[in-house]
Amino acid sequence: EKAEIAVTGLAVMGRNLARNLARNGFRVAVHNRSQGRTDALIEEFGHEGDFTAAADLPALVEALETPRKIIIMVKAGEPTDAVIDELVPLLDKGDIVIDAGNAHFLDTRRREQALSEKGLNFVGSGVSGGEEGALNGPSIMPGGSKEAYDSLGPILTKISAHVNGEPCCVHVGPDGAGHFVKMLHNGIEYADMQLIAEAYDLLRHVLDLSPAELAGVFREWNTGDLESFLIEITADVLSQVDPTHGGPFVDVVLDQAEQKGTGRWTVQSALDLGIPVSGMAEAVFARSLSGDVVRREAAAGVLPGPSSSSEKADIDRDAFIEDVRHALYSSKLVAYAQGFDAIRAASEQYDWNVDLGAMATIWRGGCIIRARFLDRIKEAYDRNPQLPSLLVDEYFKDAIANGQDAWRRVVATAATAGVPAPGFSAALSYYDGLRAERLPAALIQGLRDLFGAHTYKRVDAEGTFHLEWSGDRSETKS
Ligand code: 6PG
Repeated sequence: EKAEIAVTGLAVMGRNLARNLARNGFRVAVHNRSQGRTDALIEEFGHEGDFTAAADLPALVEALETPRKIIIMVKAGEPTDAVIDELVPLLDKGDIVIDAGNAHFLDTRRREQALSEKGLNFVGSGVSGGEEGALNGPSIMPGGSKEAYDSLGPILTKISAHVNGEPCCVHVGPDGAGHFVKMLHNGIEYADMQLIAEAYDLLRHVLDLSPAELAGVFREWNTGDLESFLIEITADVLSQVDPTHGGPFVDVVLDQAEQKGTGRWTVQSALDLGIPVSGMAEAVFARSLSGDVVRREAAAGVLPGPSSSSEKADIDRDAFIEDVRHALYSSKLVAYAQGFDAIRAASEQYDWNVDLGAMATIWRGGCIIRARFLDRIKEAYDRNPQLPSLLVDEYFKDAIANGQDAWRRVVATAATAGVPAPGFSAALSYYDGLRAERLPAALIQGLRDLFGAHTYKRVDAEGTFHLEWSGDRSETKS
């Protein structure tokens, strides 16, 4: 019997996805450019299910029943294009090529277009959950055509994570929709991690708590509204002891955060869409700053901080911990509101018709940002599918109303203590900007008209206006 699905690219993610498929009873053909990985997979895990090893792509294609379903799990960019180029001449009309890597959604749009002209289906699919998720059930965000999903859906939903019996996999929308949503997932992941890092940093510096004590704080937080995978593993990392010399592990890790690019793509795409994603942008910038060794070395211990740290003594430990919890939760709500806003905008721009509530559903399990509060997002879109912003939903509005005084105290304390909190403060500024009845954008429009005759609109009349700034300052309407 021929295989039902194939995986090419057997590094950790591809290997675990192939094992997940096999463990779920699917007949899987596997291939890797260097044969060693294929052999290792069969030798170590061959007993887990029905695998067919293929030495090259023609053999992989030959091993499959039609319409063929081939998952590509190689590096984003050129390596993915190289595999596609080699595969395409081997395929027949109706076959389905799935890119399950972290591709840029614009690449996915281009590839889908090119393959559909040849009668082939191309499905760009987000897969989240790291190694563990790929093996035991990831969150899956497939794009591509409805027809392709009709035949792929039963397989993908079966191997995905499940929450309350519901699969963490739905058809996101056509062409690049799946990869766009995966990219946003990663942008939110960046924002979430930055906010967690700021909470840790503030508590550590302001209250002089040890990493082990802080692990306890995060463990406690993980029993409430903040319950999530990232909070849980934060407690784990903070309680870890350095296996080499003892002492807190977090203190021996070089403080330069790396990135593979999806967070940066999210922010770049949001800039193009005109959507403020300040939470994610600050997270990307904070990673860049952490890695800017030259300037950090020039400034550390040289640039002066706040002159007095006397206020530290006045801070009530438990009250401040509770304030930081509120700041973290409120800032997190803002990051998600911004993220969903970007998905909405892209969905409108590209005609994807993405169901925003369903996105919250597929992120409840399997993925890195899985969290209890995604249920709240789902409920918000159930209440109102046309919700203009998550922040105006009743639940979110009340949650922030509840925590905003604490949030403001934390941002103020961070500024006074000289502890950087770009995520907390950018989120608060977005919140205040959003709720303002008048913004100073009016002044910016005035300036633009003065120096460049860029015109302005009036609050009390239709049309476009310009003032004769260098003349008699009369107003003309155009
Ligand atoms: C996931 C993750 C994953 C991502 C890593 C690393 O959903 O499983 O988002 O796709 O590659 O989190 O990302 P950075 O190296 O950019 O931090």
